[in-house]
Amino acid sequence: MTSPRPLDRISAFEDLAFGLFVHWGLYSQLARGEWVQHFEKPGRADYLRLMDSFTAEDFDADALVLLAKRAGMRYITLTARHHEGFSLYDTDGLSDLDVTRTPCRRDLVREFVEACHRGGIVPMIYHTTLDWNDPRFESDWDGYQRYLRASVERLCTGYGPIGGFWFDGNWSRPDADWQVGELYDVIRRHQPEAIIVNNTGVDERGRGGHAEVDAVTFERGRPEPIDRNGAPKYVAAEMCHTMNFHWGTAAKDFNFLSPAHVIEELCFARRAGANLLMNIGPSAQGGLPEYESAALAKVGEWTALHGGLNGPLYQGRPCGVTAEGEDFGLIVGDGLYLFVTRQTRTADTVYLASDDQEPSFRTFRGVDSSFRRAEWLDDGTAIGLDVHDGVARLDVGTYPYGTNTVVRIAKLSR
Ligand code: GLC
Repeated sequence: MTSPRPLDRISAFEDLAFGLFVHWGLYSQLARGEWVQHFEKPGRADYLRLMDSFTAEDFDADALVLLAKRAGMRYITLTARHHEGFSLYDTDGLSDLDVTRTPCRRDLVREFVEACHRGGIVPMIYHTTLDWNDPRFESDWDGYQRYLRASVERLCTGYGPIGGFWFDGNWSRPDADWQVGELYDVIRRHQPEAIIVNNTGVDERGRGGHAEVDAVTFERGRPEPIDRNGAPKYVAAEMCHTMNFHWGTAAKDFNFLSPAHVIEELCFARRAGANLLMNIGPSAQGGLPEYESAALAKVGEWTALHGGLNGPLYQGRPCGVTAEGEDFGLIVGDGLYLFVTRQTRTADTVYLASDDQEPSFRTFRGVDSSFRRAEWLDDGTAIGLDVHDGVARLDVGTYPYGTNTVVRIAKLSR
């Protein structure tokens, strides 16, 4: 059995590699996560009073685009509407719960998409499929599905090219008829090149779906390589993760990822051929969170050091190369890049410096014997390499004194 070839839009999506997820809505004003209405159960009217204080005065779409670019990200997925049912875009009367009925009045999705187009970032749209505040969701299923399609049609036709749609919520009623075929038809009609994703949720990571779905999701997990043998369609994979423990901002959530952790998650996603979509939750009125912005800028220094947007992180694909531990290889055209992880030793840096002449080898299997030379991508220094019978021994040593890049990439040449 063979594996199908990816459609052009799907391999283009895989090349994007690293994206920024943005969860922002009315809930951001409460700063207790995006599920706060569900858990605290205020009355609907009380909750929706948050619309009266939604000014978006701190939202600057160009700054958001800059943050993503600085991190080495190539796309942004914005929650145009989350489960609370409030739209960051002008629904043109389809719903009362949209940004035009707040003091803000600006169409924030328009600002977002235009800033992405200006900045060379691919705009993607997250859209809930469930709705806590639209009565049709409970009492008029077909009417609700028509409303959802009409909403998506507006997004498809109002703002120019959209890179993709990321749906979320079908897991809430696994047995319902979500009319996904009709929904995806709307997208294919107006935005045939858009990627379609429909989050299968934490309990069903990596599960396939309708034939129009272009990428499977791994919400907060390690993506598994996808077995595509005999599959009717090549689907991409995307792992989404958040910088702390909530998607929407949460003032008392201190459980933040470090830049090192994000670098590793990015590399391990690529090892499985998946994209990484890393989330931030802007503040009440759309300001960019300080810690996450700084941490992602650090990650961006690392991606820039490892080939930037033309480096193996983006164009690299899994190949037959295997290794011990967390190490792995990615192929770009006929070039090979070996990712070396966990080079850090727990001794202090002075001890490490005096010790760094010691050889320390890593083994990779499935490497073509025509590769003769290896060098570190971050500084061009040569690395001892010996390839025999498909087994490469790479003398990785330890980090030179004054450095620790978390994951180091060796570039092999012939
Ligand atoms: C979940 C949650 C949601 C979040 C999403 C992101 O399914 O319902 O709040 O938007 O995951 O992956």
